[in-house]
Amino acid sequence: MSQEASFFGLTGKKALIVGGGQGMGESTALFLARAGCDVGLMDVVPARADAVGQKIAALGRRSFTIAGDVLDDGQIQPIIADAEAKLGGLDLMVSIVGAAAWGSLLEISAEMWDQQMHLNLRYFFLVAKAVAQSLIRRGKPGAIVGIASVDGQRASPMRGAYGAAKAGLINLVQTMAVEWAPQNIRVNAIAPGHIVTPRLYDTPQRADAYAASLIPARARGTTDDIGKAALFLASDMARYITGTTLDVDGGLLAANLFPDGLPGNNQP
Ligand SMILES: NC(=O)c1ccc[n+]([C@@H]2O[C@H](COP(=O)([O-])OP(=O)(O)OC[C@H]3O[C@@H](n4cnc5c(N)ncnc54)[C@H](O)[C@@H]3O)[C@@H](O)[C@H]2O)c1
Repeated sequence: MSQEASFFGLTGKKALIVGGGQGMGESTALFLARAGCDVGLMDVVPARADAVGQKIAALGRRSFTIAGDVLDDGQIQPIIADAEAKLGGLDLMVSIVGAAAWGSLLEISAEMWDQQMHLNLRYFFLVAKAVAQSLIRRGKPGAIVGIASVDGQRASPMRGAYGAAKAGLINLVQTMAVEWAPQNIRVNAIAPGHIVTPRLYDTPQRADAYAASLIPARARGTTDDIGKAALFLASDMARYITGTTLDVDGGLLAANLFPDGLPGNNQP
């Protein structure tokens, strides 16, 4: 194990990645493995988790595929039990699953609202609660990381239910952090801005044009940018950080201060 890996205090820790089969989940799994974790790759598409597992094996670390659907309440306890059994314990969990549905508030139905609350907030409550119960039962400290969004921190036209759910997640991690601090369980979130992922919401050309005009870093982020933030928040490097949401957005939210566009973009 390299000196850098031991820096994170994660050597031999057991990590569960919910939605670990691609994109941000894959990047997070690989960074945690490089830092010395054994990794449980939980995904509704187990073949994706198997493929990430092969990359982790190439790093000389152990990983396990855990199949299941976190949107089915009845599967959540078995998923956590399966992870504990395969990993031989559980110390930390990063949950990636979530997605935005498109539509104005006047267009979306009550069913769509409920679907977005489930996919972006409700399941996270149930999974994080099950992980906390497992840690408390075993008397272990732990770390939990959820994925919010910049859309949870300001208006999100055309994806209002998603923004409301992610705002709920940001508040939920604060309450979890406060309620579970006595048991040494830290809970934090990451708020990605615009990240290049396998799931496409736009054409790459339009997304790049948006990035050039609205994101101070002038580019979309990568899944590794999220994986690095997740590694930090899950590790001892963030020992004194709980209840916070870390923006990983190339300055997007900060730039809301510039209503006329980014400085330098509009000058003759
Ligand atoms: N892409 C962006 O720019 C961006 C910006 C802000 C926030 N986010 C958030 O980032 C997260 C990841 O988004 P993404 O588009 O990369 O994810 P994704 O759709 O690629 O999903 C990640 C993994 O989760 C798995 N998964 C999906 N549903 C599942 C379920 N019910 N049970 C178990 N596993 C399931 C998928 O198979 C996949 O491997 C989401 O929470 C999203 O809201 C993304």
